[in-house]
Amino acid sequence: MELVEVKGSESFSQILIGESIDNLKNYTSNSKLFIITDGNVKRLYSNRFPIAPLYCIEPGETSKNFQTTIDIYRWLLENNADRSSFIVGIGGGVVCDMAGFVASTFMRGVNFGFVATTLLAQVDASVGGKNGIDLDGYKNIIGTFNQPKFVICDISMLKTLPPIEFANGMAEVVKHALISDKSMFDDIEKNRIEILALNERLIEYLVTRNVRIKASIVEADERENGLRRVLNLGHTWGHAVEKLTGIPHGQAVSIGLVFAANLSLEKGLLSLDERNRLESILSNIGLPITTDANPKHIFEVLQKDKKRDNELVHFVLMKGIGSVEVEKINLKELEKFIQK
Ligand SMILES: NC(=O)c1ccc[n+]([C@@H]2O[C@H](COP(=O)([O-])OP(=O)(O)OC[C@H]3O[C@@H](n4cnc5c(N)ncnc54)[C@H](O)[C@@H]3O)[C@@H](O)[C@H]2O)c1
Ligand SMILES: [Zn+2]
Repeated sequence: MELVEVKGSESFSQILIGESIDNLKNYTSNSKLFIITDGNVKRLYSNRFPIAPLYCIEPGETSKNFQTTIDIYRWLLENNADRSSFIVGIGGGVVCDMAGFVASTFMRGVNFGFVATTLLAQVDASVGGKNGIDLDGYKNIIGTFNQPKFVICDISMLKTLPPIEFANGMAEVVKHALISDKSMFDDIEKNRIEILALNERLIEYLVTRNVRIKASIVEADERENGLRRVLNLGHTWGHAVEKLTGIPHGQAVSIGLVFAANLSLEKGLLSLDERNRLESILSNIGLPITTDANPKHIFEVLQKDKKRDNELVHFVLMKGIGSVEVEKINLKELEKFIQK
């Protein structure tokens, strides 16, 4: 088992990689426990949950809203939860976001932790202390900064994950490698087959490296004042693709990473060979690198999202593999680039 500590300004979080869900009780002290999960995770794993009141949401992003939040608050009240209660979210990013948001706001905040059960939740959503819900089509627009007490990343639980969900998580893994870890990029290229076969030792190593990368960025800029922006690599274009086409987030990020690589290539920051390596690694993982959607329509969505920020967009560019820089790019320049 590996332990990574994330030091937030007000609290700190322990990420336990390779720990088992069976040991969950060891981390919740003697507090009264409340568990939030989703239908898929409940079906597969509830026989291993500790005995505690259980709230089950419908799987998927559409559950991450105020109605679910209110339903959970009422359920907590009905079950006599109080300020000393402990909430645990067991599931993917949707469950972690819901549980983290509810716990941060119920009675002005109660202690909480996660068992992260998707690759995306383990390498991204459960690390960093952002807990958000959606409103009117805006993702994560309402939320808190608040660190969970612990995150258990039980690698063996990834075995039941649909391959497409695993690939979605890998898009964020490749993103982290591009931001700051060239040797992880090389390792993924070399060990792709074993990674996709879910070799537990390799995945534990990969999750640990990713958690360390995200944790160090978050520690340097917990409230997203600047540095944390690098985590948006691939997401400016990717979010617009996701909004327009409705494809899963990881797939959209993959397309967004290739877009960012092409723009970096155009600006002389990335070589053609590096761009091609990125395309291969993503395709080999099973992620798309192109979309049928019209780039003009994608641009329109991006533009609408960015309107408030004058005509400039903070765009994360690649400086080779393993290094990035954030540039303020004029929307007109971006428009010209997509017309090429
Ligand atoms: N707070 C943050 O910093 C942050 C960062 C990134 C993403 N997110 C959020 O995370 C969410 C996406 O997370 P996700 O990709 O984990 O989605 P998800 O939680 O919807 O999980 C994906 C699917 O896998 C199922 N599942 C979960 N664990 C499983 C397991 N072990 N075996 C089989 N099936 C399993 C779920 O039921 C669901 O159907 C988004 O809402 C996104 O906004 C938050
Ligand atoms: Zn993402």
